[in-house]
Amino acid sequence: MNLKEVLKVADKIVFAQTGQHLDDLEEAVLRGTLQHETYKQIAKDFHCSESNVRNTGSKLWQIFSEELGEDISKSNFRAAMERLQNANLFNFAQNNNNVSNSFNVCGESRHPPDIPDPISIQENLSNFKSFETPYQDLSEMPDLGAFYGRTHELETLRNWIIKEQCRLIGITGISGIGKTALGAQLVQQIKNEFEFVIWCNFDHSPTLTEFQTNLIPFFSQSQQRELSVSVPKALSLIKYLQQYRCLIVLDNIHNLFKSGDLAGKYQPQYEDYQTFFKQIKELSHQSCLLLISREQPKIVTEVKSNHSSIQTLQLTGLRIKAAQEILKDYGLTKIDQIETMIKRYQGNPLWLKSIANLLEELGESATEILLNDPLFLPEEVKESLSQQCDRLSKIEKQVMSLLIAEKHPVSLVKLLENSKIISADLLNALQSLFRRSLIEKQENYYIILPIIKQYITSLNDL
Ligand SMILES: Nc1ncnc2c1ncn2[C@@H]1O[C@H](COP(=O)(O)OP(=O)(O)OP(=O)(O)O)[C@@H](O)[C@H]1O
Ligand SMILES: [Mg+2]
Repeated sequence: MNLKEVLKVADKIVFAQTGQHLDDLEEAVLRGTLQHETYKQIAKDFHCSESNVRNTGSKLWQIFSEELGEDISKSNFRAAMERLQNANLFNFAQNNNNVSNSFNVCGESRHPPDIPDPISIQENLSNFKSFETPYQDLSEMPDLGAFYGRTHELETLRNWIIKEQCRLIGITGISGIGKTALGAQLVQQIKNEFEFVIWCNFDHSPTLTEFQTNLIPFFSQSQQRELSVSVPKALSLIKYLQQYRCLIVLDNIHNLFKSGDLAGKYQPQYEDYQTFFKQIKELSHQSCLLLISREQPKIVTEVKSNHSSIQTLQLTGLRIKAAQEILKDYGLTKIDQIETMIKRYQGNPLWLKSIANLLEELGESATEILLNDPLFLPEEVKESLSQQCDRLSKIEKQVMSLLIAEKHPVSLVKLLENSKIISADLLNALQSLFRRSLIEKQENYYIILPIIKQYITSLNDL
């Protein structure tokens, strides 16, 4: 991106709205923003207070938001200007001599305006509004249809990503709980805050080298444009994450982990992801990696402070109202015990959809039988549970058996008494089961999820 050109166009936009050119501080704020500087750094370079810089910034973002018809902030200003560049508005700016002569690019103080043609600016900007940022590859992001509830979760995630600028975020939870759906909804909401957005499905996990090699062409598009050369020297992935504000979503990364071991242990060929994630956590950059997984990766379980660059959201079931909406989509509105059913299936959208599917086919009269059954498991649910339970380690299976034998939530002391497992192993196994979302902790008592209990019991009965 050519800084001078961008500042010229920015000046033109500000001029069209206020009738005044950029002053020195405004230009410093835009220049610093384009160079990924913080307000603090800009204030230091300009020898003024940070609050002065912030106020100037927020006035500018308001002007740009109004002119460009979308929310512009410090984090997406550069991306918005790149889209302007794409929409050929830069040529427009340069060709309009009337205006370009009056630009205050080098930070001179305001001077009387040579009036640009505001109508042409508006026309060109309205074309611009319909342009998508070219650096979005969401071809692997599934479209999962209707989406209900999760307002609190979305707000939390937005907050971590936009306000707190977290570098690494985990969304974890049992299969079918809605991790992918939530991630996709989030991406739709925030994608324009980033210069690069890409969704990668790890169903067939690449090695780290393959992953980086696959991603570099996507990121180097910007370099090609900036340098106007066809084959620029590719940077390493981390350099792109430092240079641009990027959002990378890695879905299903539990596939990187071993089966038959404690949760979150890397398979040998994927071990270097651990170092990569550590780099993402520790190096200074402005990008965010969103990790979606059935098992919590170790990196996101590390000790966090309030202002950590890492956060995890362990997803639980949908609230009653949102779950009811799912059932409504299947025409199930008249069931008396709808709440009981939602609670039985713990608000898990996949489980609820499977049940709704069954009732749609068999008729609502099947509800009664279904609710009298200890806990009916449709085939689809069994399949998704078997994928998870098959991955358990030997020690986890032993602990599961202990938990199944208990009617009520059980304390750690009692579990130790009842088993021959040494305490360190028991603690590790409990932690691992918790990281797989197969057990819950209620104060100091542990309980296995009823549906998991039912599934394992039904296997033992065979
Ligand atoms: N908030 C929601 N509103 C409506 N439907 C939802 C919601 N969340 C998830 N679903 C639906 O539930 C099903 C399971 O969701 P999703 O695939 O996101 O689960 P997941 O946690 O990613 O599961 P897995 O671990 O198997 O990948 C999908 O059909 C999805 O459309
Ligand atoms: Mg998923």
